[in-house]
Amino acid sequence: MNNDFRHFNIEENQKIIALAPMAGFTDSAFRQICRKNGADLVYSEMVSARGTVEDQKFTDGGKSLGFSRFLDAERPILVQIFGNEPVIMAEAAKIICEKYNPEGIDINMGCPARKVVANDYGSSLLKDPQLAAEIVRQVKASIGDRILSVKTRLGWENNNEILTFAPKMEAAGADMIAIHGRTRKQEFSGEVDWEMIGQVKKLLKIPVLANGGIKNWQDIDRCLEISGADGVLIGQAAVGRPWIFDEYKQQKSIELSFEETCEIAFEHIELYHNYSKFFNELKKHLLAYFKGFPNCSELRRDIAMSESFEEFKEVLEGFRAKI
Ligand SMILES: Cc1cc2nc3c(=O)[nH]c(=O)nc-3n(C[C@H](O)[C@H](O)[C@H](O)COP(=O)(O)O)c2cc1C
Repeated sequence: MNNDFRHFNIEENQKIIALAPMAGFTDSAFRQICRKNGADLVYSEMVSARGTVEDQKFTDGGKSLGFSRFLDAERPILVQIFGNEPVIMAEAAKIICEKYNPEGIDINMGCPARKVVANDYGSSLLKDPQLAAEIVRQVKASIGDRILSVKTRLGWENNNEILTFAPKMEAAGADMIAIHGRTRKQEFSGEVDWEMIGQVKKLLKIPVLANGGIKNWQDIDRCLEISGADGVLIGQAAVGRPWIFDEYKQQKSIELSFEETCEIAFEHIELYHNYSKFFNELKKHLLAYFKGFPNCSELRRDIAMSESFEEFKEVLEGFRAKI
């Protein structure tokens, strides 16, 4: 199944430009914004497999299950789960599929956060390929014909660990693999090795998505060229600039005016308001939208200090009156 994205309604051989999973950022509102601005596929924030299974006892769903919820407008979507117990992971995946029917389930095998690694979740699975493969096998068997994807890194310590790890995930039944071109040791900084992703691509039949270090739409072209990957995952560069997906598709930079930026920020607020009233959660997105405007440090300071949507609107009105 090389380059077969029919599950995602994407043409054969079209590169897939996806929104990467980011805990605390890629919630329903942001995923909708990214889909509207050209993302072909979105990933949910990571969802605890154990939490999902335990949430079954709550009639209203509980917190972990809440993270898996999405709207049709977000499709195609992969719900990402984390954990390390194959039976629990498979059960969680089944619950999510039965309840929400995403196009697929992604398994987090890349998160380097101390809290995650201390529990042997996320990138820790790179150290135990046998367990990782068992998770893939059991989750795959529990989700029908949906896509089972794996998101991982080049290795725990060394860049080339992925050359043996990825084929094992493929053999265990993974339909797709997304690779952040750094090791766990590098966390989020240091050089990204897109060439190593290219070596993995040559070894596998399943689609390979490259991730890490894409800062603008031109980088997408460079990353695809160097890695030969079937697509990319964009994380941080989409925050404050979700139109990066359209920029790549149109092969040109899109510079929004202050008014156009206000429009997208208000649209984001409206989508977010449909399910949450916690302004502080959204503030990081709003701050990011207004990065880079001339003389905007005062504006950003005032946004950072605002404590409600009303205060945010007042700040923008005040800035608008001055320009
Ligand atoms: C704030 C933040 C939260 C993240 N949360 C997740 C997550 O929940 N699951 C995951 O697989 N990766 C997560 N990542 C990693 C990203 O998906 C991505 O691999 C990484 O940011 C590199 O891509 P980028 O350079 O395009 O941002 C997170 C990254 C950041 C910065």
